[in-house]
Amino acid sequence: MKKITIAIDGYSSTGKSTLAKQLAKELGYVYIDTGAMYRAVTFFAMQKGLIKANYFNQQGLIDALDQIQLEFQYNPVRGFAEIHLNQKNVEEAIRTLEVSSFVSQIAQVSEVRKKLVEQQQSFGRSKGVVMDGRDIGTVVFPDAELKIFMTASPEIRAKRRFEELLEKGQKVRFEDVYNNVVERDRIDTTREDSPLVKAFDAVEFDNTNVDKEAQFLQIAALAQEVLDQQ
Ligand code: DC
Repeated sequence: MKKITIAIDGYSSTGKSTLAKQLAKELGYVYIDTGAMYRAVTFFAMQKGLIKANYFNQQGLIDALDQIQLEFQYNPVRGFAEIHLNQKNVEEAIRTLEVSSFVSQIAQVSEVRKKLVEQQQSFGRSKGVVMDGRDIGTVVFPDAELKIFMTASPEIRAKRRFEELLEKGQKVRFEDVYNNVVERDRIDTTREDSPLVKAFDAVEFDNTNVDKEAQFLQIAALAQEVLDQQ
């Protein structure tokens, strides 16, 4: 059967990555988490002292972009590909609230986006990929056969993210997580280069009051319909 490209975009903490992983598993496709790539660049910038509270050496990061090598390596135990920054697994290290607090600033830099988008397009060249992010259906794969756009209320998204961080043992306050979600929405939707916007041909899902399993079944059926038309 012909393989397709599935683009999943939407606001932070709408369950994009859970859905994308499930879909990839169901179809035997490769899953790529592009948010992890922006987070890994952010982690690099933090380690090099290029970004901290009220400070961002944007030109320094641009000059250092050649020193950043990103790779995904499949982890059979977890069942998905984990991100590696310069040969080091940073899959967990990039999931902190601190990284989340800087990532939208990093993702505004056109030079960063150009580098990552090129790599994302090369991952998808042979199709059979499920990619999640903010600009997949609009910029990375405007010709994707299936585009999903996910939303949910900021309150429910913050609550999900807060519980996730607590489960990982991170000490966070709900208020800080909520403010981060709202601030990232603001920056991601208003930035000049590739803002978060629903592609005209994307199918929108609001999962504020929908459970993950029901949503997965609905979207898997949609993917099957698209595959049947190929
Ligand atoms: O999906 P996530 O929350 O891990 O993404 C982290 C940040 O990266 C998000 O706030 C915006 C940015 N991002 C982006 O600009 N473009 C993408 N394709 C994916 C993520």
